[in-house]
Amino acid sequence: MTFNPLQERGIPLDRQLRNWRELNVTPIDPDHGDPYTRCRIIALNGIEVESIMFSHQFARHCPDPAVKQQLAEVRYIEAQQQKVVNWLLPGLASVLETTIAYEQVAVDLTAWVARMEPDPYLKRAYEFGVLEDFDHLYRYANLYEMIEHRKAEKIVDNLTEVTPGRPTYLHHRHPVDNVREPYDKNVVDPLSRLHALTIMAAEQQTMNFYMNVGPTYMEPIARQLYQEIGLIEEEHVTHYESLVDPGETWWEQLLTHEYNECYLYHSFMETESDPKVKAVWELHLNMELEHLRLAAEMFKRHDGREPEQVLAPVLPAPVTFEPNKAYLRDLLTNTIDFTTIGTGYVRDMHERFEGWQAAIHGGEKPPSEVVIDENRGKSGREYRLETEGPHPVSSLRADRDD
Ligand SMILES: [Fe+2]
Ligand SMILES: [Fe+2]
Ligand SMILES: [Fe+2]
Ligand SMILES: [Fe+2]
Repeated sequence: MTFNPLQERGIPLDRQLRNWRELNVTPIDPDHGDPYTRCRIIALNGIEVESIMFSHQFARHCPDPAVKQQLAEVRYIEAQQQKVVNWLLPGLASVLETTIAYEQVAVDLTAWVARMEPDPYLKRAYEFGVLEDFDHLYRYANLYEMIEHRKAEKIVDNLTEVTPGRPTYLHHRHPVDNVREPYDKNVVDPLSRLHALTIMAAEQQTMNFYMNVGPTYMEPIARQLYQEIGLIEEEHVTHYESLVDPGETWWEQLLTHEYNECYLYHSFMETESDPKVKAVWELHLNMELEHLRLAAEMFKRHDGREPEQVLAPVLPAPVTFEPNKAYLRDLLTNTIDFTTIGTGYVRDMHERFEGWQAAIHGGEKPPSEVVIDENRGKSGREYRLETEGPHPVSSLRADRDD
């Protein structure tokens, strides 16, 4: 059955407002649920936050009061959706538990997108980035064991392995080398636009989260690790946002944002295991269909083109949270030693990279290394969750001598 969001009818905008009782959703159970339900919640929160911030930016560049009003009306509903989605997360979970879930999202969502991406240059950008968030998961899991005395398998539940990726200290690159080449809006596959927007939104929310929660810790190593990884998420936002063609008009971007919201709510509705959460995805999909219709009207009026000229003819296959263990192990084996140079990738160190590394590390071990040393000292060994055998890269095995 094909689902074309441009042909479907949604809920009229004047019936989308929810009262306090309707906004007061019951959160998921943090200990007995599908970890991928929490991942879907986090991913859609990132999408809603992006839709709100994009709409604000649009409004700030828009001289037409009627357009500003319509943006404000839809944006208020997006803000309600964001409240409902993010409030599905339980207050019982600690900040570090949510952090580990954020990195699980980054790993399994980016790996899925990399696997499905039709354009080789874009695919490589996702494959490059995913090995870094994979390593963040391992660093935070060690912090978690050390300061909360709990194990990350309680959160990721054997769906995602926890073991070194490209080591975090090597993620600090000269900012110039984080800017990629954009796709060409005239020839790009519509699926590639959706992928770029989704991953950019996910990384942006991770960056925002770490910049806010990092200083709420008392433990110096926790404060330092959030600073270090927070700076890498800044690099990741730069990396992914630069994939988007900056020549797309505001109307075109708005249309793509609303279409992507339809795509993701539809995807997650199709794959959700928790019936209460599934009902939220379904409701929000029906709201997004109307947002899309309104965006399409504006696009036709102000951009002068038909939505079909930039959107996919049918909704692509649903975005699915599922284990990507073999795929990630393959990337570890073949691409762990990559870094960037300009808009490309190299295996070798280069002068600009070495200069940045020397300056930021200042001759000391970075927090991402100290956290592993400290946890080895406290727990007798570092934390890993290797469900598929020893690490594929021999120098990164747990029993190595160093
Ligand atoms: Fe939305
Ligand atoms: Fe990360
Ligand atoms: Fe990231
Ligand atoms: Fe929307």
